[in-house]
Amino acid sequence: MAVREYGSVQHITILGATGSIGVSTLDVIARHPDRYAIHGLTAHSRVEELAAQCERFLPKVAVVGSANAAQRLQALLAARGVRTQVEYGAEALCAVASAPECDTVMAAIVGAAGLPPTLAAARAGKKILLANKEALVMSGQLFIDAIASSGATLLPIDSEHNAIFQCLPRPYQRSPAQHGIAKILLTASGGPFLTRAVDTLAAVTPEEAVAHPNWVMGRKISVDSATMMNKGLEVIEAHWLFGASANQIDVLIHPQSVIHSMVSYVDGSVLAQLGNPDMRTPIAHALAYPERIASGVSQIDLAAVAQLCFERPDFDRFPCLKLAYDALTAGGTAPAILNAANEVAVQSFLNREIGFRMIDQLIARVMDTLPHREATTIDDVLDQDRSARELAYSYIQP
Ligand SMILES: NC(=O)c1ccc[n+]([C@@H]2O[C@H](COP(=O)([O-])OP(=O)(O)OC[C@H]3O[C@@H](n4cnc5c(N)ncnc54)[C@H](OP(=O)(O)O)[C@@H]3O)[C@@H](O)[C@H]2O)c1
Repeated sequence: MAVREYGSVQHITILGATGSIGVSTLDVIARHPDRYAIHGLTAHSRVEELAAQCERFLPKVAVVGSANAAQRLQALLAARGVRTQVEYGAEALCAVASAPECDTVMAAIVGAAGLPPTLAAARAGKKILLANKEALVMSGQLFIDAIASSGATLLPIDSEHNAIFQCLPRPYQRSPAQHGIAKILLTASGGPFLTRAVDTLAAVTPEEAVAHPNWVMGRKISVDSATMMNKGLEVIEAHWLFGASANQIDVLIHPQSVIHSMVSYVDGSVLAQLGNPDMRTPIAHALAYPERIASGVSQIDLAAVAQLCFERPDFDRFPCLKLAYDALTAGGTAPAILNAANEVAVQSFLNREIGFRMIDQLIARVMDTLPHREATTIDDVLDQDRSARELAYSYIQP
């Protein structure tokens, strides 16, 4: 990617602009109109929210999920006198992520739907701010190869991976041993069910599962936090981002969510990144990297926090975390199968079709039944994603 002159304006596409990360990204961008302009904004179906964003940020292009949504958005924009070009569908998402006028892509679509446009941005050599961990979990080496061959830049937005990135030496060569790194320590809040009696978990409701104690997030990632599948996906994400093997990545429960993650070095040093739990910090860090800009997040008051606690995760309480380690160790398309089964299970739980404890059972059953294979092309990955979804649905609605 060409080096930008200091002070020049970065043109940004936000994939998933109406979501939790998308809205936080626009909040940071609005604080720095001299630095950032919007090329594209995308949503799936929330057209009113997208129309309001278009009116405020005047993107060149807006993309939605269907012809019907595009028609509604057109009408809303015409009524407001906004001349944003409206597109819809998967190809339009890839086009807005790889357009020559766009420098930087915030990848913040939730789930596997984010893979094709994020990969398109990687192939087009963009600066990618990666929130959509599912894309990297599914495509792994293929995504990393696309970044390397196009010269794209990949910056992590997940608060844990952004913290690790901040604690690593520069330049980092994706090899922990080469830099004297003993372990990556991924912190986890433990979610809303850290202390709830395990034998009552089968009865928890979607409302209880999405009520995260520290973070305000979208519904899917909130359920993933309650099962700790989110941490499992993050273990796989850390593997690909930092070149660390499964046994070099430890998960540590830290209920205060003040330390966002740590890197432990062979000399006994542990470097940590701390801050208030607000995604605008990693978003501002990645947007401005290697500079620093204000994010709107207040400085942390450590005296008020007073205590930092840690404990090891319990795989009996959080079997999804173990399933993710197993998928990483199995390799090939196993993480894509895990991810697809999880997406189906979480949606079904949110729709009240299955109970909370069925989530891990369903994923385990799909992983045991569907053999994984080498992932040599993206079509292999998407094919296994489809098969895993079909199998998972067949167990829910036989
Ligand atoms: N929220 C956080 O604090 C956080 C932290 C770290 C990482 N992440 C990751 O960031 C990603 C986004 O999370 P979020 O919490 O912001 O999710 P969210 O609030 O549910 O927002 C998801 C966004 O993706 C769009 N979308 C949904 N389905 C789509 C589809 N099939 N095709 C195209 N677009 C689609 C949504 O559009 P509509 O609004 O129109 O439905 C929305 O803009 C996830 O991968 C998550 O794991 C989130």
